[in-house]
Parts: sequence; C-alpha cells; structure tokens
Amino acid sequence: MRRKSSSLVILLLSLLVVLPVVSAQSKPVDAEGHQWWQHAVFQEIYPRSYMDSNNDGIGDLNGIALKMEYLKWLGVDAIWIAPCFPSPQVDFGYDVSDYENIDPMYGTLDDFTAMEKKGKANGIGIVFDFVVNHTSDKHKWFIESESSKTNPYRNWYIWRNGKGPNQPPNNWLSTFGGSAWQFDGKTNQYYYHFFYPQQPDLNWRNPKVASAMYDSTRFWYKRGVVGFRLDAVDTLFEDPNLTDNPILPGKNAYGDPKIEDKYTHKLPEVHDVMKGLRKAANQYNAVLIGETWTDNVSELKDYYGTNHDELQMPMDLMFTKLKPLSAEVFRKHVGAVDSSGEWPVYVMSNHDIVRAYTRFADGKHDDDIAKVLAGMYLTLRGTAIMYYGEEIGMKNNDPTRKEDVKDPIGQLGWPEQKGRDGERTPMQWNDTPNAGFTQGIPWLPVPMTYETHNVASEQKDPNSILNFYKNLLALRHTNQALLDGDYIALNQDDANVYSYLRRYKGQAVLVVLNMSENPQNVSFNLSKQGFSTGEAKTLLSTINGGATQKLSGMSLPSYTVYIGEVTK
Ligand code: NOJ
Repeated sequence: MRRKSSSLVILLLSLLVVLPVVSAQSKPVDAEGHQWWQHAVFQEIYPRSYMDSNNDGIGDLNGIALKMEYLKWLGVDAIWIAPCFPSPQVDFGYDVSDYENIDPMYGTLDDFTAMEKKGKANGIGIVFDFVVNHTSDKHKWFIESESSKTNPYRNWYIWRNGKGPNQPPNNWLSTFGGSAWQFDGKTNQYYYHFFYPQQPDLNWRNPKVASAMYDSTRFWYKRGVVGFRLDAVDTLFEDPNLTDNPILPGKNAYGDPKIEDKYTHKLPEVHDVMKGLRKAANQYNAVLIGETWTDNVSELKDYYGTNHDELQMPMDLMFTKLKPLSAEVFRKHVGAVDSSGEWPVYVMSNHDIVRAYTRFADGKHDDDIAKVLAGMYLTLRGTAIMYYGEEIGMKNNDPTRKEDVKDPIGQLGWPEQKGRDGERTPMQWNDTPNAGFTQGIPWLPVPMTYETHNVASEQKDPNSILNFYKNLLALRHTNQALLDGDYIALNQDDANVYSYLRRYKGQAVLVVLNMSENPQNVSFNLSKQGFSTGEAKTLLSTINGGATQKLSGMSLPSYTVYIGEVTK
C-alpha cells in the first residue's frame, strides 16, 4: 500500500516536470488535434510604424496596446512584433544589445506587460521576434568577446585570423555588402558578420550560446509571449573549415561578385538549434515561426523537422517571389506546397520586401487586385501571416532621394538598392495629418494615399479593402471547411481563373479568383467531389450577384473574388 502511494507521488512529480509550465494559448482546438496557431490569423507589426503614443515620431508598445480593439475587430489572433529590445538601431532593432528588456524608445517591461494583458483581454497573443543569428556589437557578450583573445566570451562569436596582411579569412560576403569579415586591430583577428559589421554572428557551436539563448526565450514565455518569429535561421552556422563560396557570374547591387551561399547557409546543424528552441517552446505550448528563405518545397519541409520537432510555422517565403499574378503561377506553387503534407504558412508581404499591393498593382484595378490577393491567401489551407496596413491597401512609399534614405542598405546600394523604408511607413489610421500615426514628425513619410486608404474612412465604406478583409477573416474563423478542409484545385487548365475547393467532411467552400483584367466565364462540375446541386450559397464575393450562384456559366468581371458554400 505504502509502495503504491509513493509511486503515485513520483508519478505526479514527474508529470509536473513534463507538463507545460504555462499554457500560452488553449490546447488543441478540434477533434483532429489542430493546435491554436493553426486556426489563428497572425499579423506582423513593425513597432516603429504602428502607433506613436508619445508623439516622438516613432511607434511604441503603448501605441500597439491602444490598437488592440481594432485588431480584434479586424479578426487578428496574434501579432508578431518586429524586435523591440534594447538596440543601437543600426538595423532598426535587428541588432539586439539585450534580449531580456524593452528599448526605452518603445517603452518599458511594465509597458510590455500592460500591452500583453490588453492583448489577452482582446484574444490577441504576442509573438516576439528573436534574432538568433547575431547580436549587436554593443551586446555585453560581444563587448567581452572583443576585449581580448582569452576572454571567456571570445568563443561566443566567430573569430579567425586573416589569410595574410589586409586579407580576410576567406571570400564570404555580407548580404548587406562587402566582406563578411571585420578586422579588429586590438586582437589582430577578424570576426564574422553575415549582416552589418555591427551585427556579429553568434557562435552556435558553443553550447553556452545555445543555453543562454534558450533561456532568453523562456524569459519571455514566462511573461506571456505565445511564440517567436525566428530571424535569419538559414545562416546560423558556417563551414568550420571556412571553404570559399563558389563565385557566380555578375555583380550584386553593392558591386560585389555574386556568390553561391554554399558554405554559409542551411548547414545541417541548423536543425539541432531548431529542435532546442522547440523543446523550450513546447513547455509553454508556444509557436515558432521561421524566417526560412528556401529555394524549394523540400527545403521548406526540412524546417518542420523529420519528427515534427522543429518549427511549427516555417514561413513559405517563396510565395512572396511569385509573379506575375496568374492562375497558373499560384496554382502550381500552392499545389506543390500543399501536397508536401505539411501545414503551409503563407505570407504576402513583410518589412523586407515591397508590399504586395505595389508588386501586383496595374494602376487601374489596384484595390480589386488587393482583394483578389486576400481572397486567395486567406482561404488556402494553412496559417496566414498578414503585414500591417495590407488590410487597408497600403502601398510602398520608396524614397526618391538618397539623402532621405533611413535604411543603411539603401544608402550603400543606391540607386539599385533603395532600402526597405518604402514598406515600413507609418500605419494609416485616418485622414488627419500624418495619418493619425503621430502628432510629432513621423520617422518615415506617410504616402499621400493615406487620404483615401486609412482605417477610419475604410471602416465606413462597405466596399473597402478593409471591410473585405474583416468579412473574410470572420468567415475564416467560423467556417469549418476554411479552417480545416482539404485543398482541391479545380479547372486546372484555366490560365486566368484560379479556383479550388476547401472540403471538410460533408461540406465544402468553393473559391473562384479571376486573376485577369478581362471578364471570364467559368463553369464547375463538382459531382466528382460529391457536390452535385450545381449551386453555391454565396458567402463573400466582389461580384454583384444574389444569395445563390449557379455553377455553370459563372461570369466574373476583371479581378474578382467569389467564395460560396457548395452543397450535396
Ligand atoms: C531579417 C530581418 O527581417 C531583416 O529586417 C534584418 O535586416 C535581417 N534579418 C538581419 O537581422
């Protein structure tokens, strides 16, 4: 008897160790075991540009807190906030000097807590951005590391001797221009930086680095963060033998030779770190989103982990490179990603790439095209990550003069590389000066389209891009077929209209997207898929039509979306 009760105690104690410490979000949400992040809509927020609560021209955490009701109204469930940790801001926060605090420019730890609470009250989780590849050169670890060759932190970064006088250790290049090696006169060695020289790469082969970084993720999980977007994971490791990268023909925007990133990207060891980060995330039921720039679907699949023990949400960033807007292009790519068997993560825009609104605009149907894009990627199987302002049709506002450029790569590579200021401009809240973002001088200029494309005006217009997004997200949250259904491509020979079914058990939603500037006529016969009434009940559409729609001879004006429920 006594033996039994002591083994019960041991069992309970071991459960305490194994069970999640805190549940970041609710447990699996449906009978099939889908996790909270599979049914969530994420939005990236660039904190410098979202809402400025203290009128210094730069957004802040209190500003984000003020907009939680808006995000809830829109239908966002989690926000990924680009880095807001202490930073010299050389790369606008992607040069972190302390992983466990908030930059005073954005607020304090208390402001973080207040924002997190306000988020929770509105059903919105906070995802932070973890810069895993490098720190700032002002991080205390690097300050120690560069102080001498024998400092205990020396091996936290990648230091090597040059090949000879004024000769870096090899031909590796920084993606932001020039050699990836920076000489340090004090210790006569070079350190490696894939990004700016002020962003030295961490040495992930050192177990102390790994455990300090895993601890920092726990620091935030304990404070309520529900996950991380992991920055630049492809470049965590480099070939320890420093083999030169193969040189390709031609020059890049910085005048450097083009090279193949063979010995500096996606080394197999990356997966060990993904597993380590995932272990920590699992204790808190948290999600990991990866900045995964893959060249093909098989590389993307690798990031989920062979045992699904790496990233739950590696971003499909190949999706951001698809062009032109064409049924064939998107059908082919989505088909390949969907059939990989993983849970896709579609992204159209972010703070590093020209906004999708601008990429696909034709100057005549820009708002209609924006709705077609939303109608597509927010109805596909998988989790979508929106970019702030996309829901109101914000466009890029690129600098036209070198002297106005804030992003250093725009200064270095001008005019071929204008930098990323254009996609990072202040959120357009209303039609008052500075679009209601600040009463001060905004750190980047607001594009003139704020007069028509802003939250307040679009909320009032039932046909606005914003109301289209809002209605679409509401549908996505409640419709079982959109949440969990299979993806079945239809009419695969149609070069202009991209259409598919999302089928879940006995129900299905039909999505029809006219991706051309010409009106199109389409017909669907869905009896093979088990839906033979020849009709759909309209759920959301940009076509003027009735409550039901015949599936033969559907006419679609240029750039339109039709979403309807088909029945047996
Ligand atoms: C990717 C981030 O998205 C980008 O903004 C940053 O400059 C680099 N990583 C370096 O951290």
